[in-house]
This record gives sequence, structure tokens and C-alpha cells, in this order.
Amino acid sequence: MSEFEKLLGSYQARVNQKLEVLLPHDDSILTSAMRYSVLNGGKRLRPILAYLTAELNDTEAEYMDTLASSLELIHCYSLIHDDLPAMDDDELRRGNPTTHKKFDEATAILAGDALQPLAFELISTIKTTDRNKVQMINSLSKACGYLGMVGGQIKDINSNQIKDVESLDSMHSEKTGRLIQASIETAGILSGLSPSDIDSLKEYGGKIGLAFQIQDDIIDIESPASVSGKDQGSDIGKDKTTYPSLVGLEASKVRAHELSKDAKKILQPINKNTDNLAMLADYIVSRKA
Ligand code: IPE
Ligand code: IPE
Ligand code: MG
Ligand code: MG
Ligand code: MG
Repeated sequence: MSEFEKLLGSYQARVNQKLEVLLPHDDSILTSAMRYSVLNGGKRLRPILAYLTAELNDTEAEYMDTLASSLELIHCYSLIHDDLPAMDDDELRRGNPTTHKKFDEATAILAGDALQPLAFELISTIKTTDRNKVQMINSLSKACGYLGMVGGQIKDINSNQIKDVESLDSMHSEKTGRLIQASIETAGILSGLSPSDIDSLKEYGGKIGLAFQIQDDIIDIESPASVSGKDQGSDIGKDKTTYPSLVGLEASKVRAHELSKDAKKILQPINKNTDNLAMLADYIVSRKA
């Protein structure tokens, strides 16, 4: 295992430990579904991005734990709803039954609904200035709302209307890229990075966010469920417009790698050690799960 893979593993362990404590423990059906949907593995990419961003300003990882957890809660809420019969209708997530299969649809909807405000509640408790808290809440709420993740998800539901790469890029950037960008932006705010560094990092986030979703589309075709933990061929089964369906598998791989390269170029002028963020850009387009 490379040093970088060890670092990713250590950040995953950190955020998992924190989530275990932060999620409610009252054993009701609702909180059981919330815990099931969050504490079930996952790459923890959004928390990792927050920790790697904070590293640039030598900020202690401990100081980032609550923000990192909040980002993962938003992501997990989006996955629960994404898997519902009214959306992608999937049965497998992170190698386990999806939340509506394990519980039922109403419980899954409500577990997602409850995870979302919990994320914002937790951010409001972080020991930092009120100004930082407002800025983080502003960034994250915009990223997951109608112009961000949810806006992208509705385009996805109607994706058979998408016939050109530009529209597909917008959908992918909104449904997946915006939360990835906000993970970096909020971490930049909390760790006190300069506005100009945050702007550059957001641009980097836009590139890796799009690359991440293109690679996700490739994984849907190429990775068996035993590797991805998700139903293989789900997109094809639902006649979705994806990168491979629009431009082909090979061109999709080329685009993902180009975006990763562009992302790394954006890091170069930043006067900090961005090596780990550069390695993350490589990881995003080489992953199989
Ligand atoms: C899957 O996200 C949904 C997308 C936004 C592409 P991840 O690939 O990050 O899923 P986990 O968290 O590792 O399960
Ligand atoms: C999901 O995209 C994006 C979200 C905002 C959850 P996908 O529908 O492609 O994600 P998977 O493949 O089910 O993880
Ligand atoms: Mg989907
Ligand atoms: Mg899906
Ligand atoms: Mg997918």
C-alpha cells in the first residue's frame, strides 16, 4: 500500500469514528436507518477532500472532523434518495441492500430528510467564528440545492433529453461536482485559506468533480457489483444518458484523464504543498469502485 493510500485510510478511519459518535443512538427505526445508511463503508471522498484542503494550511485534522462528517451526511442523504424506486431504483449500495430495501421507502425518504438538516446543525456547532459558520452553511446549501446537487438530479431523471456534451457536463457538474467543490470551499474557509487559494481550489474541484462522475459512469459499465458494491449496468437498464452512452467508453476515459490533468495544472501556481490533492486527482480517474 502506498503512503497516499495509507493517508486515505487514516482519514476514512477518522471520519468513521466521528460519524459513529455524532449520529444519534436512540435505536428508533428512523435513527437505525440513518446509521445504516451512513456507517456502511463508502470511500469518504468528500471528508477526505476537506482534510486534504486543511493540510494546505497545516490545520489539525481534529479541527475538521465535524465539517468532514457533515459533508458525508449530505452525500449519504443524496445516495439514499438516489436509490429510491422513483429515482434510480437500485437494490445494492456499498455492497449492502439499499436503505429502502433494508427498511422501507417511507423510512428511507425520512432518513435522508433527517440527515440533511443534521449536517447543517453540526456545522453550526463548530468552534469557529460566526462569519465562518455562515459562509460554510451558505456554500454547502447552495451546492446541494436547486442549482446544485438536486438541480443536477432532476436533469438526470430526465436525462434521455440530453443529447450534447455541454448539457451532460452541466448535469454531472451539478449533481456531483458541486458538493465536491463545496467540500473544498468549506474546508478552505474553516482552515483559513486565502480567498484566492480557495478560488483556485474550487476550480480544481470543478474538474475533479466532473471527472469523478464520468468515472462513475464508466464504473457502472465495467465494474462488477463485487467490486463497485452497486448494481452493474444500472444506467443502461434505465436508458440514462451518461458519458459512455453519449461519447463512447474510450472517449469517456480520455476526457476523465484530461480533466484530471487540468485539475493538477490548476494546483501548480498555489504556493502550498498540493501533492496530495494532485494524487487524489489521479486516484479519482483510476478507481474501479
Ligand atoms: C456515488 O458516490 C454517487 C456519486 C456522486 C457519483 P461515491 O462513489 O463517492 O460513493 P461512496 O460514498 O464511495 O459509496
Ligand atoms: C448520483 O449519481 C449522484 C448523486 C447526487 C447521488 P449516480 O446515480 O450515477 O450514482 P450511483 O452510480 O447510483 O452511485
Ligand atoms: Mg442517479
Ligand atoms: Mg444512482
Ligand atoms: Mg452512477
